[in-house]
Amino acid sequence: MSREEILSRLRSEYMGRSLYYYEETDSTNLRIRQLADEGACEGTLAVSDKQSAGRGRRGRGWISPPGMNIYMSLLLKPDIDPTDAPMITIIMAQAVCDAIPGSCIKWPNDIVINGRKVCGILTEMVLDGDQIRDVTVGVGINVNQSDRELFPQEIRETATSLRLECGHDVDRAELVARIMEMFEKLYEQFIQDRNLGFLRARYEERLAGIGSEVRVLDPQGEYTGISRGISDRGELLVETPDGEVHRVYAGEVSVRGLYGYT
Ligand code: BTN
Repeated sequence: MSREEILSRLRSEYMGRSLYYYEETDSTNLRIRQLADEGACEGTLAVSDKQSAGRGRRGRGWISPPGMNIYMSLLLKPDIDPTDAPMITIIMAQAVCDAIPGSCIKWPNDIVINGRKVCGILTEMVLDGDQIRDVTVGVGINVNQSDRELFPQEIRETATSLRLECGHDVDRAELVARIMEMFEKLYEQFIQDRNLGFLRARYEERLAGIGSEVRVLDPQGEYTGISRGISDRGELLVETPDGEVHRVYAGEVSVRGLYGYT
C-alpha cells in the first residue's frame, strides 16, 4: 500500500483526496488532530502502515503491526449538534461493512465476520464552546494478518482478519478507496437529513444480533432484552420483557449478545 496506490483507486469527490501517508506514526487519530490544528480541510485522511501507539476505545490500545492492516483516520467538520456526532460512527460502520462482503455490524463501533471482530472505529470530537470544531473518525481493520498469534492473548478468540476469514489477501489500497467512496455518499445524505432514517433498513440488514437477546451494560443497571434495530438517531432499540422499547445511546453503555462476543 502506498499513497499513489490509494489515490489511483479513489473515486470519491473529497473524502481522502487530501491524503497523508505514513510508513509509521504513533496514531493516525493524533496525526489528524495535529493536521486539523494546522488548518487541514474536511475529508483529509491519514493512513499509516504501522502505528507505535495505536489507540482503541475505553483507553485501550490497538495492536498495529506493519505490512498487513489498515490504520486510518478521517477529518470531518460537520455543522451539526454535538449530540448528533455519534451518528457519524454509525455511518462509518455502514461504509466499512458495505466494503467488506459477508461482514456484519456489532452496534455501534465494530465490524465482525463469523462472530469475530475485524474492525474497530474510534470517533473523537473537539468542541469550540458548544459547537463542534471537528471530528476524527479512526478506523482500524485487520486485513492480511495471517497469524492469530499476533493478537494479544486476551483477544485471540474474539479478533480476526479478512485474510483469516476469507482465505486470501485483500488489496488494502482498494479497500481504503471503497470505504472513502461509500462513506462520502452516506455522510452527504446524513448532513442533508440530520438523521439516519435513510439508512435504517440497510443498516438493520447487516446488524449482528437483531431479533436476539442482548444484555445492556448500563451503568445505571444492567438489563436484558431483544435487539429490535436502530432508531433514526442511531440508538439501539432494545425491547424488554415488559414490552418497553429502550433507546440505547452509543457511548454510555456497552451491549453484549448473550452467546459469544457479538
Ligand atoms: C476500538 O477500540 O475498537 C477502536 C479501534 C480504533 C483503531 C483505529 S486504527 C486507526 C486509528 N488510530 C488509532 O490510534 N486508533 C484508530
